[in-house]
Amino acid sequence: AQAPLASPAKLGFTAVPFSVADRVIVPDGYSAEVLYAWGDAVGLKGNSPAFRADASNSAAEQAAQAGMHHDGMAFFPLPQGSRASKHGLLAINHEYTDDGLLHGDGMKTWSGEKVKKAQAAVGVSVIEVEDAGKGRGWRVVRPSKYARRITANTPIGIGGPARGHALMKTEADPLGVEILGTLNNCANGKTPWGTYLTCEENFDGYFVNESGTLSDNEKRYGIKNKDAGYKWAWEDFRFDLQINPNEANRFGWVVEIDPYDPKSRPVKRTALGRFKHEGATVTLAPDGRAVVYMGDDQRFEYIYKFVSKGRYQAGNAKANSRLLDEGTLYVARFDADGSGQWLPLVHGQNGVDASRGFADQGEVVIKARLAADVVGATKMDRPEWIAVNPKAPGEVYCTLTNNAERGGEGKPGVDAANPRADNKFGHIIRWHEAGGNAAATAFKWDLFALAGRPDAKSDAHKGALKGDAFGSPDGLAFDAQGVLWVQTDVSTSTVNMKEYAGMGNNQMLAVVPQTGEFRRFLTGPSGCEITGISFTPDSRTLFVNIQHPGEPENERSDPAKPKAISSWPDGDAGSRPRSATVVIRKLDGGVIGS
Ligand code: FEO
Ligand code: CA
Ligand code: CA
Ligand code: CA
Repeated sequence: AQAPLASPAKLGFTAVPFSVADRVIVPDGYSAEVLYAWGDAVGLKGNSPAFRADASNSAAEQAAQAGMHHDGMAFFPLPQGSRASKHGLLAINHEYTDDGLLHGDGMKTWSGEKVKKAQAAVGVSVIEVEDAGKGRGWRVVRPSKYARRITANTPIGIGGPARGHALMKTEADPLGVEILGTLNNCANGKTPWGTYLTCEENFDGYFVNESGTLSDNEKRYGIKNKDAGYKWAWEDFRFDLQINPNEANRFGWVVEIDPYDPKSRPVKRTALGRFKHEGATVTLAPDGRAVVYMGDDQRFEYIYKFVSKGRYQAGNAKANSRLLDEGTLYVARFDADGSGQWLPLVHGQNGVDASRGFADQGEVVIKARLAADVVGATKMDRPEWIAVNPKAPGEVYCTLTNNAERGGEGKPGVDAANPRADNKFGHIIRWHEAGGNAAATAFKWDLFALAGRPDAKSDAHKGALKGDAFGSPDGLAFDAQGVLWVQTDVSTSTVNMKEYAGMGNNQMLAVVPQTGEFRRFLTGPSGCEITGISFTPDSRTLFVNIQHPGEPENERSDPAKPKAISSWPDGDAGSRPRSATVVIRKLDGGVIGS
């Protein structure tokens, strides 16, 4: 039984309505200001190129500027006592590129320089930020010794069972110990020892194997024999799997970065498994082992967790830096009676062995999806972010954004944990780890919320919600008060259309779990998704990312396609929309949401 909770937090703001305005709208009494947009200088010493509105910045300049498509992010206070909530670092993911916007003439022509610019526009930014006070608000500190861009070409180490594995070796890296770059950096995590986790999601789209014979590994991860649209392999043969067959095995990982040490080498933590990682939410078990919750965001994919072998030791940076290299990777099975099991993906157990094609643990983590198939995990409706309730030990929430293919012809049908066919609005599932212990192998689960709209034509889309309607939940995080924040990512092809007609632009809501009542806090500009959530330690500043306003802008370079729908944040007619980090504050300086 859970300990009784302290009185629940109270939401003190008035909900904002649905909106189609091309701007960020927050409740009365709050401000929202742009801090760091695509193309803004990251703040490298002696190298701060200004953004050129015609997208004529070079690849080299892009590598010193904010990348595109801001996604997961975390705030790291600089250890200065009472200033901890006024000064710190932000690590920010740049998920992917919109090449129609990234280059002056879009994709009309193609070149090695364009590929280099795209490779410089993904990855991670580390920026130094401070609250300048006296009404001046937050700003990026430039130059900063902490400023850093990690791109698709930054050298990155390998830790865990796949380090040095035969499937990780390439001509350029015959030992299988160093990878160039990280890409498709979606959601994130933050460790208790002060490092940032960036998660590689849809890596398959950057690779192509034109041979026509795809391996089971390639097929299971969505690699195709035709280019998916980024056209990197055309100019950079590293992404051509006929030339470099193992290169795709080197992506799809969680990467650990020490933002406080700009010289430190990021490391791909392969013990956490290779899949289309959404986020990596870290908590500690009562005995100090690190537990990492992770979603694999694709239809009918799984929820995973990693439990470290070692224990977190406060202040022992060296020991903590090895925690994510050794431990047990599990995948979740949700049973119809409301119980669930974490099934270990360990070589030699439950059929995960040479008879099923796994030579060793390295091959198990590289082919984690195939191993999870063997043990019989539950196929979910696109697992996105996972959040651990700071007020209730072992209580965990996961957004399942949508899955219109559920129950379709030749597709898996409904099950207790994914109860709706044609699940266009998604849901939020919750589980309680046995004994409130994050390292437990058994849990009890329930459906926290079925998203939807009460006036829907189809029962499958009505949902079961208290408060404000929404669909396609994605970003998810608790604040220190125990309020759960939910961000939506209704896709560009349905936002405010079809089943979502009248529901406006993507949004962010707050819900106190004890009441289950959702309240809309923010609406974004046209064509964007809302993603990335990080609070300062005092909960009085909230950082949020606006991703891909105006999508699909890549159609801008095709005169037959519709015109740009957003000019956010610059606002002048025809200006290129830019993904950006936004700072949200309460005008009276109070706790966000209170
Ligand atoms: Fe990159 Fe699943 O969102
Ligand atoms: Ca997402
Ligand atoms: Ca999403
Ligand atoms: Ca996205």
